Amino acid sequence: MAQDSTAGSIPKKPATYIVEHLDDELGPWSELEYVTIAKDSHMSGNTFLLSSLPPSLDLPATLSSLPAFKSETRGVEELYAATKDRVCLLDPAAAQDLSPEDGDCFDVFLFGGILGDDPPRDRTSELRAKGFQGRRLGSKQMTTDTAVRVTRIVVQDKVPLDSIPYDDFPELKFNERESTEMPFRYVKGEDGKPIMPEGMVELIRKDADKAIDDLF
Ligand SMILES: C[S@@+](CC[C@H](N)C(=O)[O-])C[C@H]1O[C@@H](n2cnc3c(N)ncnc32)[C@H](O)[C@@H]1O
Repeated sequence: MAQDSTAGSIPKKPATYIVEHLDDELGPWSELEYVTIAKDSHMSGNTFLLSSLPPSLDLPATLSSLPAFKSETRGVEELYAATKDRVCLLDPAAAQDLSPEDGDCFDVFLFGGILGDDPPRDRTSELRAKGFQGRRLGSKQMTTDTAVRVTRIVVQDKVPLDSIPYDDFPELKFNERESTEMPFRYVKGEDGKPIMPEGMVELIRKDADKAIDDLF
């Protein structure tokens, strides 16, 4: 069973979870993922910072109104210039996997604000180039909100990476004929289903319907 700090107790040492937004826009998928990260961060006593936002970008109120949420037009390199060694980049290409002990070495956990892609295009390399220490969350690509969730479970709940229950490449069944396989690793919730942002399944179904309509 996943031990998720959103379930209750406030962690002793709060952390900052930063997503460096790497796209010009903030689409509906990213919005749902970021809202989830902000809500989870609030419930676990942490802060969620969305950095490197284009100054012209209007944040949706669903996100900007959330108490644990902070936004910045500056990038993480500038924000943490003096304390770079306390920042851990979650990097699918890092040589070392994240461990519970990393919670003592780092206060800030950094993620690429990129939508998952299949096959992965390694856009996390844009952050790797800035020289932060990197840790991997295993070999499978996760959505950004899942990567934040898994990091929190490892460094704050102190559950080793390989003891977390996962759901890999789940199939979402919309009806008798329509289904889609998600090419990502998710955390398995208490109900046995992959934990996904609220509204995500409906959004995926709408996108799938649109893709079919576009064929005609
Ligand atoms: C949806 S992933 C994007 C991965 C993407 N395909 C790329 O171009 O790098 C978004 C972010 O989640 C984190 N992430 C996802 N899976 C990970 C893994 N297995 N190990 C470490 N970090 C991961 C990374 O910070 C990554 O930038």
